[in-house]
Amino acid sequence: MSNISINMDESYRRLSQNDSQLLQGKKALVRVDFNVPMTNGKIDDDSRIKGALPTIQYLLDNNCAVVILSHLGRPKGKVVESLRLDPIAQRLEELLGRTVKKMNACIGEEIQNAKKSLTSGEVLLLENTRFYSEETHNIASFSRELAENMDFFVQDAFGCVHRAHASVEGVTHFLPSMMGLLVEKEFEALKGVFINRKKPLTLLIGGAKIDTKIGVIRNFLPIADTILIGGGLANTFFNAKGYDVKDSLVEIDKASTALSILQDAGEEACQILLPRDFVVAKDISDTAETRVLNRKNGDLMNDGEKILDIGPETIQQFSEVIANSQTVIWNGPAGLFEFSPFANGTKELGKAIEDNNNTTIVGGGDSVDAINRFGFDETKFSHISTGGGAMLEFLEGKMLPGISALKKSHEL
Ligand code: 3PG
Repeated sequence: MSNISINMDESYRRLSQNDSQLLQGKKALVRVDFNVPMTNGKIDDDSRIKGALPTIQYLLDNNCAVVILSHLGRPKGKVVESLRLDPIAQRLEELLGRTVKKMNACIGEEIQNAKKSLTSGEVLLLENTRFYSEETHNIASFSRELAENMDFFVQDAFGCVHRAHASVEGVTHFLPSMMGLLVEKEFEALKGVFINRKKPLTLLIGGAKIDTKIGVIRNFLPIADTILIGGGLANTFFNAKGYDVKDSLVEIDKASTALSILQDAGEEACQILLPRDFVVAKDISDTAETRVLNRKNGDLMNDGEKILDIGPETIQQFSEVIANSQTVIWNGPAGLFEFSPFANGTKELGKAIEDNNNTTIVGGGDSVDAINRFGFDETKFSHISTGGGAMLEFLEGKMLPGISALKKSHEL
């Protein structure tokens, strides 16, 4: 039996465990993940901003001055006007109920002077860190400048802890560093899945690509009772098993990967369920004409058709598995739920998870978007992660640079 790999290290320094006397009057540099969805300069979903509030408030309550760092989008080292953090500063100001001074840069004389003159209770938001190519290349001189005139660093950007970037990892080489309250909450919730292992444990995994999910599926083979596979990911398995998926999204070159997962699952006594039936259409639109095909009954797809959602029989089967689980982890939608003809699978499975009163963990931008879109009650889920890639890499058992860096940092 292969071993599950997960980072259970308890030795990271945590903001919550610091002597609050030590924090008084200090200047805290806080990395958050304010990479929020925006349309035409308007924030579509502010959950990530709200997620960082406890840490910011905790620091302010302890008479710190707070300097906030975040990226937004992927501007690739250049200034992109639409990716400035001004709308975020405005929203943060509303949520905090105090002035947030937005700067137009992250480094330079003006920034250092602003940091020097900061006093307790003041909040400064620096510009998008990814306007600097040094950020993603983790250049030490950039991290040093970010750290200058600050007393300590708080890692609260759970969505980014899988990135070894200058404002995530590099900066910890220059300041005493600790885990913020959001990262701690995420870390504890995800770790809890492995420590408590309440069984039956089900992993529901969807989305488009096998590459980003393969490590998680493999890591769960020894502990999951059932792995439910939906979304475009399932097509790659169908293709590997010889079913012609016609114009569906599929990774032809991943056929052997898919087959080896199915074989390994058999050896681990983990049941992998692929959809029995699915919804197909030629067009991807809200008015698309659809057909339901049953693979098990030998139904074949026509030229030009694509698989775009799971079918009713699969919804029923997967929902029953979810209802009988003590732990459910969900990452990735079952279909192209943004379009109404293909929304049912994601909506019904989301509902089954909402109705499960045991441990339910959800992560990934699309799954969280589905929770909001279908109006599910967030309080009925045990944990909704703010991380997409970061949650997957954690569940995969990978070391997350933004968290492991917190171990080696200096004393406060
Ligand atoms: C996310 O949205 O998952 C995080 O903000 C990380 O963004 P990135 O994938 O662009 O690094």
